[in-house]
Amino acid sequence: MKLIATKVDDSPAVMAEKIAAQQLKAGFAMDPYFYRSHLVFEQELDRILYRSWLYAAHVSQVPEPGDYIQYQLGEDAIIICRDETGEIHALMNICRHRGARVCEELAGNRKTFVCPYHGWVYNLDGSLKAARAMEALEGFDVADYGLKHARCCVYEGLVFINCDADAPDFEPALNTVGAALKPYDLPHAKVAHSQVYRVDANWKLALENYLECYHCSTAHRAYAKMHTIQDLEDRISDITDAMLARAEAQTGVPGITLNHYQAYSSSTDFGTDVYHSRYALYDGFLTGSDGGQPVAPLMGQFNGYDGGAGDFQLGPLCFMLNYPDHCVLYRFTPRGITATDMEIVWYVRGDAEEGVDYDRDAVTWLWHHTTLEDEYIIMRNSAGVNSRFFEPGPYNPGYESICTDFVAWYLKALSAGI
Ligand code: FES
Ligand SMILES: [Fe+2]
Repeated sequence: MKLIATKVDDSPAVMAEKIAAQQLKAGFAMDPYFYRSHLVFEQELDRILYRSWLYAAHVSQVPEPGDYIQYQLGEDAIIICRDETGEIHALMNICRHRGARVCEELAGNRKTFVCPYHGWVYNLDGSLKAARAMEALEGFDVADYGLKHARCCVYEGLVFINCDADAPDFEPALNTVGAALKPYDLPHAKVAHSQVYRVDANWKLALENYLECYHCSTAHRAYAKMHTIQDLEDRISDITDAMLARAEAQTGVPGITLNHYQAYSSSTDFGTDVYHSRYALYDGFLTGSDGGQPVAPLMGQFNGYDGGAGDFQLGPLCFMLNYPDHCVLYRFTPRGITATDMEIVWYVRGDAEEGVDYDRDAVTWLWHHTTLEDEYIIMRNSAGVNSRFFEPGPYNPGYESICTDFVAWYLKALSAGI
């Protein structure tokens, strides 16, 4: 039986009370109310998702003028489209006449977007080209009825969008981790594979699970064997220090050891979260693969392996784990109070040929299996959290402190709306 009860007396006042009570319980997992309330979910869309920088696509998905791909968010669809001049736009897929979707297919190539309802025609930059017989309306000007835009930021080949017209620019924040991100040469990288894992759980359970590695040694045997982040910092400091000492020389990349944290409560502006740290793999492992041996040609400027991996956050819901020979991007998209899409995009060097330079199954093996393990534990977590008998327990201060920070940030964002 799958049943999420909705409280009939839910209201902004109840939400305000729950937020205040939760703020007094810093360091504890959240009250089930936050995973079950429709009002909370609506507020999250409004206060968090529609105001944050979110990963939407990679430039290689829209290489030619007219190419587009859609990103669905809440009840909206946003068209990421390249115009004739090469510029990329994020267009709201809502006709300015009476609101029909102007584009149905999730990806393709178009010269124009023609609304299937009454035939208004839009250019690739969203401007209205023609509106059949509308000259009958005195003063009607096509210039007033272009498709609405979301903000769009293309950084290192990654296309980010923000639905808030007044959102702060993302680029200054991204630049703070630029020295560590640029060496992978993502603008010329290739998407080796992408896959959506739909998990029947609230997005915060999926995200909290990603943020902490307390569960890694119990839930992810293969991952934990290779990645030192499954252990506490002071217990792995010798391995980390040795990796950091050799990293620049062995990768040939200056700045690869940059450590920078500006996420959640520490982010400079809302929705512009970024971090980078380079952490070590255990001795003998060079990359995130079955056995830890290389599975693809070295990325970008790398000319060797240092036994490290670059851990990134790019916006509140997007992460990357970058190995010298491939990069793994992780995006969370809420789809309902108990549905979340976890999407993984695997990148390899742009000129690498599948079947010759890399084997797709070998590149995706670790994170595909790790994600299936996550899906399983997140769903079990969801089942327990949605029980009337659930009472939240404390986060582990060593392993899960970032969850404490996420919750504080989240509650503050939510409370701003009421
Ligand atoms: S709703 Fe698009 S043309 Fe009428
Ligand atoms: Fe996990």
